[in-house]
Amino acid sequence: MDTNAILGPILDAHREEQGALLPVLHQVQDALGHIPPDAIPAIAAALNLSRAEVHGVISYYHHFRQEPAGRHVVRVCCAEACQAVGGEALAEHARTRLAGSEVTLEPVYCLGLCACGPALQVDETHLHAAMTPVKFDVIVARLESES
Ligand code: FES
Repeated sequence: MDTNAILGPILDAHREEQGALLPVLHQVQDALGHIPPDAIPAIAAALNLSRAEVHGVISYYHHFRQEPAGRHVVRVCCAEACQAVGGEALAEHARTRLAGSEVTLEPVYCLGLCACGPALQVDETHLHAAMTPVKFDVIVARLESES
């Protein structure tokens, strides 16, 4: 997909708008699946920001990814309530299990399932509560077997 063809209309729609950076970044990621590094100069120029400012915001928010995701994205909750019931061990298990996998692992900070953690989300559509490493492996095996 041509980055400039996607960027142009998004930047044109927000060029004169105060506080447009976050809406622009969301739209770029929604359209491209990530925010390519070569998009940063154009975003900065259009919004009269420095490249460092744009990069800083992208780096600050866990939601934004700078590289394309795999076929599936699994988000493990790293917020306090989930951490208190095994979320940290689950996240470590997930890091080990997904090393080299086409399933991308990302952190998320609360999925609204705090009372029944650890929680995780698959592809922005499926929430899972009371997650264990064994259940995690079953979900990942199913995702990896999909063509
Ligand atoms: S803290 Fe994990 S779902 Fe809220």
